Amino acid sequence: MKNEILRLLKKQSSGYLSGEEISSLLGVSRTAVWKHIKTLKAEGYIIDSQTKNGYRLIQVPDCLYPAEVREYLSTRVLGRELFYLPSVSSTNREAREKAEIGALDGAVVLAETQTAGRGRLGREWYSPTQTGLWMSVILRPKIVPADAPKLTLTAAVAVAEAVMTETGLNPGIKWPNDILLNRKKVCGILTEMKADMDRVHYVIVGIGLNISQENYPEDIRDIATSLTLEAEKKFNRAKIAGAVLNSLEKYYFKLINDGFGAIRSEWKRHSVNLGHKVSVNTLGEVIKGIAEDIDENGLLVVKEIGGSIKKITAGDVTLR
Ligand code: BTN
Repeated sequence: MKNEILRLLKKQSSGYLSGEEISSLLGVSRTAVWKHIKTLKAEGYIIDSQTKNGYRLIQVPDCLYPAEVREYLSTRVLGRELFYLPSVSSTNREAREKAEIGALDGAVVLAETQTAGRGRLGREWYSPTQTGLWMSVILRPKIVPADAPKLTLTAAVAVAEAVMTETGLNPGIKWPNDILLNRKKVCGILTEMKADMDRVHYVIVGIGLNISQENYPEDIRDIATSLTLEAEKKFNRAKIAGAVLNSLEKYYFKLINDGFGAIRSEWKRHSVNLGHKVSVNTLGEVIKGIAEDIDENGLLVVKEIGGSIKKITAGDVTLR
């Protein structure tokens, strides 16, 4: 009911809507209307209330409330279940707990801040409140575990495309799935899965996209950036969340229905590695050479100085 009231207020935001009108349109008492308006105000919506004229929505808070994100969603599967938390340890961890108790394919966990946000290779992920998109998507694809890296690359392409459309900026992808702007990281993706040898139970695609941070702590200032810093303007985070989910669904369906081929070419188009000298730290071993390609399974193909070819499943790439 609260969301219905919000919908009416948004439709009528150029003028006032009386409590009486709302209550008759929605078939609830005026006291109920008043209570929901009170809750909306407590959530940060600025609503002018006038005894004579009724209510008018003045401003929507900069929050990832499901009602806000849904406004921008055009998906069939992703986001049909949306779990919102003002604060959480890690959305990936929360998503895994939800997946274990039966969350649907496409369910999404969103948070305003993470107190223990996690990155790849056991790193921390800086997740200050109301500045980014800290989001995890639960997927239940019918794939074998060996195909999971393709999903990770698919997510990177999807985020890069959404960032491009929403901001006009031109992001690059560093293998496997860091999204860069001006050689600094704007988004990281942490994919985790639960699988048997021959079957994936679920995959959690955790996306950390820096949106509106205007400065960074000294230790990451040289390597991290945000959409606002790069585009020098503010963005509506709920709109960006919707765009990322729309794009992720589009590319996820493409992967499942048409295979990795089309996504592989998109990934290569965005790549900042291919054709360049790289140094890859993979399970303690450092491989140096030219990043030549990603193969049909999403592995990074590196040609070493001596000419031998190495295919890398997981690791950390430094551009040289
Ligand atoms: C990386 O580049 O190292 C991956 C970073 C992934 C961060 C996101 S934020 C949302 C989700 N929850 C987490 O704890 N991590 C991912």
